[in-house]
Amino acid sequence: MNSKLFRRFIPLQRSCFFKSLHRFPIFNNGLEISYNYRCLHTSQRCFADRIIPKNAKSGSSFEWLKRQLNDPYVKKARYENYRARSAFKLIEIDDKYKILKPGGTMIDCGASPGAWTQVMVKRCYPQGDPKNKNGTLIIAIDISGIAPIEGAAVIPNTDFTNPLNQAKIITLLRDRKVDTVCSDMAPKASGQAELDQPGIIKLFLSALQFSIQVLKPETGNFLGKLWEGNRTKELCMLMENLFENVNIVKPPSSRCDSSELFILGTKFKGIKYG
Ligand SMILES: C[S@@+](CC[C@H](N)C(=O)[O-])C[C@H]1O[C@@H](n2cnc3c(N)ncnc32)[C@H](O)[C@@H]1O
Repeated sequence: MNSKLFRRFIPLQRSCFFKSLHRFPIFNNGLEISYNYRCLHTSQRCFADRIIPKNAKSGSSFEWLKRQLNDPYVKKARYENYRARSAFKLIEIDDKYKILKPGGTMIDCGASPGAWTQVMVKRCYPQGDPKNKNGTLIIAIDISGIAPIEGAAVIPNTDFTNPLNQAKIITLLRDRKVDTVCSDMAPKASGQAELDQPGIIKLFLSALQFSIQVLKPETGNFLGKLWEGNRTKELCMLMENLFENVNIVKPPSSRCDSSELFILGTKFKGIKYG
């Protein structure tokens, strides 16, 4: 084998080796599914570094791959066994605003693939171990599939905006009030702001409306994702009627070239009827 071919061969071997290792739960820290993502990244790195022919170095998928490979958060997510780099957005927000309560009740709307839910499990159970029961309840819902996460009640393939599905969540809560509702929900983006904005606003409002029914008065929090647009201010004003503190948050791990931002409301004022 000449040396050029050999250099290409080694990474492929390594990728296959890791793939087979990760089939065994002992190598994946008990998080049954996360290894798929590690495998993916490992093989992506090999693929991008060594295999992509020069004439394929164009097009958005190659650019995406290159960006992934150079992204420190992607690497960090792989090492810390998170299913996606998005984990760090919630970690950074929680480090600053302390919205994930140990022993608390959390709802993760738009949870797939599950990185935010993993963060909730780590931060709400003592020592991050769901076997240590401390009253924590984490409910994760997504319209797409979500592989199981120990310590969370996962509701995959379910449209959060459907009132019947929200009623199912309320049944799961069994009269508990919720500490924090997080919505990272986003529709599939076309890239055209005027088409995409209404979709994400609808998801945001659906989660906010649901929160009003379930949040703990005085201490409950709501975190919702938006793409920056001309209705951001209006939505902040709406939130100010409901929460003592409202902040627009752009965590460092949220890409600068993305219009993504989060509106965080803390200390739910509660709703007075009549
Ligand atoms: C940015 S991803 C969430 C990533 C997730 N927070 C994580 O860290 O793994 C947005 C998610 O919103 C979900 N979504 C979009 N519309 C939804 C709906 N109507 N009901 C539930 N989930 C929805 C998508 O399926 C997608 O998985």
